[in-house]
Amino acid sequence: MSGFNSIEDLIRYDKSKGTFRVSTRIYTDPKIFELEMEKIFYGGWVFLGHESQLKEPNDYVTTHIGSVPVILVRTEEGEIVGLVNRCRHRGSVVCLTRMGNSKFFRCPYHGWTYSNDGRLVGIPDREGYPKTFDVEDLNLTRIRIANKYGFIFGSLAEDPPSIEEHLGSAESFLRVLGNKYPKGIRLLEGYMSAKIRANWKILLEGSVDHYHVPFAHESTTEALKNVVGRRIDLRAMNSVAHIGNGHQVLIVHRETAQFGWEDSWYLRESKLTDFEKLWDSQNKFRIAIFPNVIIWGPNAPDRFIQIIRPISPEYSELTTYFYLPVDGPKEYREYGIVKKDRWKMINLLHSPAGLNQPDDQAVWEFSQIGAGNSLGSNQYNDLSRGLHRENEEWRLKRLENFSRVDRIGAGTDDTAIRGFYEWWAKLLFGKEI
Ligand code: FES
Ligand SMILES: [Fe+2]
Repeated sequence: MSGFNSIEDLIRYDKSKGTFRVSTRIYTDPKIFELEMEKIFYGGWVFLGHESQLKEPNDYVTTHIGSVPVILVRTEEGEIVGLVNRCRHRGSVVCLTRMGNSKFFRCPYHGWTYSNDGRLVGIPDREGYPKTFDVEDLNLTRIRIANKYGFIFGSLAEDPPSIEEHLGSAESFLRVLGNKYPKGIRLLEGYMSAKIRANWKILLEGSVDHYHVPFAHESTTEALKNVVGRRIDLRAMNSVAHIGNGHQVLIVHRETAQFGWEDSWYLRESKLTDFEKLWDSQNKFRIAIFPNVIIWGPNAPDRFIQIIRPISPEYSELTTYFYLPVDGPKEYREYGIVKKDRWKMINLLHSPAGLNQPDDQAVWEFSQIGAGNSLGSNQYNDLSRGLHRENEEWRLKRLENFSRVDRIGAGTDDTAIRGFYEWWAKLLFGKEI
């Protein structure tokens, strides 16, 4: 079997046959995982958190860039900074909790203490080091961060592309999320986190895929049928698109504009342009921003933000936060399928005992099991669906003047995923497919 350096061996795209296939080694090979960390997670921008998680001075959340633990914190002065969560003494993490409020981080190992802007301010038994010992050289490592409409991204790279370059057209979707409500959105404090035995790309593939819904989520669709009187329609007006730079969107198009019962308030107060308001009223979207965050747009009943953390080739962590508008009429702030009881909705679908999330986790793990390991024979997954019907005119029109479209297809097609893999291959191997 040839080595992974041959991209042609990992992705087999045959235009004449209309096939696009990826080797299952991309989900299992430690060398590929290492390359992904270097080129994607440490070489570019990664989503870290939302500014509403850092409302007060000294609020912090912890997260990761690839396998590097990170703290995102609002300092006493109100500045948001990113720090590597790693003591400069002997490398223990200095902050152990997922979120909280603290002026200092004291390392649990030998007690070195850092202020929350990263300065090393306390070394127990300082006399054990010579006077010439340079304490300033041992501050927590700062991370470059960028805040786009409240969404905070971080980069470990020395010279990354600008955040605008990285986001490209994903910025249009973030604008809708950030500007639809005059005071923006806020993440609810609770979160759900699961360790899943599946490669991080399998999680991303499954997040912009309408094809699996009636099958993997059969129990949900059956229950829904009893409520709304019909089954999920695989030919519904959904599209998936790759909008460049690995970013994928799943869009549910509405036949007519729908503003909902909160219209008058929203139309009066929103910071969106008239064009953006119209677009938002005609489309419901889910965006997977490369490489690690999936966000349901504001028109979804279960508005969530999911962060994917790659742990190893075969393991990932998925953390789900839910969000609501900060302002607006009371019902608006609490809007959900089960009105006034949003947690019911969230638990019903997305908790470990919910209807949807366990289905997804199960099928993702089944795919990982099917991939075997990288020492096995070379097997291929098929991502050809919809190759013959990309870029239909009416779909392109739906995103006109709103977002760049690299390619677009039906919601059940693999169109966006193919775009994702072409971008992935370019970053890893510097080659076009
Ligand atoms: S490892 Fe942090 S104080 Fe020793
Ligand atoms: Fe699903």
